[in-house]
Amino acid sequence: MSKALKEKKPFAETLVVWQKSHGRNHLPWQNTRDPYRVWLSEIMLQQTQVSTVLDYYAKFLQHFTTVADLAAASQDQVMGLWSGLGYYSRARNLHQCAKDVMTKFGGAFPQTAQDLMSLPGIGRSTAAAVASFCFSERVAIMDGNVKRVLTRLWAYDADLSVSKNEKVLWQMAEGALPTKQIQTAMPRYSQALMDLGATICLPRKPLCQACPVRTECKAHELGEPEKFPVKTRKLKRTSEVLWLLLANNQKGQVWLEKRPESGIWASLYSLPVFASEEALSAAVLNSDLPKNSKRHWEILPTFKHVLTHKDLHCHVVKTKLNKGPISTGSGAWWSEEDWQVLGLPTPIRHLLSNSR
Ligand code: ADE
Repeated sequence: MSKALKEKKPFAETLVVWQKSHGRNHLPWQNTRDPYRVWLSEIMLQQTQVSTVLDYYAKFLQHFTTVADLAAASQDQVMGLWSGLGYYSRARNLHQCAKDVMTKFGGAFPQTAQDLMSLPGIGRSTAAAVASFCFSERVAIMDGNVKRVLTRLWAYDADLSVSKNEKVLWQMAEGALPTKQIQTAMPRYSQALMDLGATICLPRKPLCQACPVRTECKAHELGEPEKFPVKTRKLKRTSEVLWLLLANNQKGQVWLEKRPESGIWASLYSLPVFASEEALSAAVLNSDLPKNSKRHWEILPTFKHVLTHKDLHCHVVKTKLNKGPISTGSGAWWSEEDWQVLGLPTPIRHLLSNSR
């Protein structure tokens, strides 16, 4: 047998070659080695798809050209620009991370995955993505898409919700990293894994016929790629009832409060939230009514808003007030022009938009 037939190209090399011609190479955060730009994209892409991220990414870079600009911004400005992307802890961590880069690293992102991981919001996979894309560090990425690609490749059927099993997969991923021409291969290899997961090795109905590594994929050989990855522990869901107060004054402004730094909608602006109708009533009854107006108390249709771990059952009471309700902490009247640019939870933004 000839040498060419006998020796199979390593998995990483096959992927690197494939990525050049079949991968995504023109996304706005590619073709740069600026860690600020790469980090910003990776945080946005953690739980959000590319098509949604594109506009937000452009908008952020318009407002904050450098990490120093982002660090110097107010939290309200950052949350306002993030509004609608969801998973708002990402925005809070993003801002804190920018500040930490300025104060702890002299304004330059650290260049190793290990140091990057010391920053808020940067986990092991995000650190590896930034380090491999920007500094060609030989480190493994492992986001949800990559887990799917690798567990299928090796038909790795251990339960990934058991942390020991996930650790083993990380070690296997490290064992599969490129060994040649690391400078150019590493960024391309990381991107190849992401691209394969996003475009070919799909959760359902993977496009195995178009896969560059189908001949060495154990799950494909077994004929059931969709069985991988194995993850048994289901997310425990809870639910909560909220009473929201939609109060307008005579000028048509709406009363909004900034949410605490932890819990539901942390650090965003919201209608006042109460645990019960009684608690809401108590706050309203203690406030002034507009002159010459009878109390107007309208209960809007209840709606459900689904968060990652929780279903929120939201009741909304609409009324008119002179003064802000008492006992709800800090709050203020906001005109439409001003609340439009605030960081608001999506259901609150919809409520305000629909009740104009
Ligand atoms: N998802 C996470 N990182 C990504 C990247 N660099 N390109 C496309 N999708 C991604």
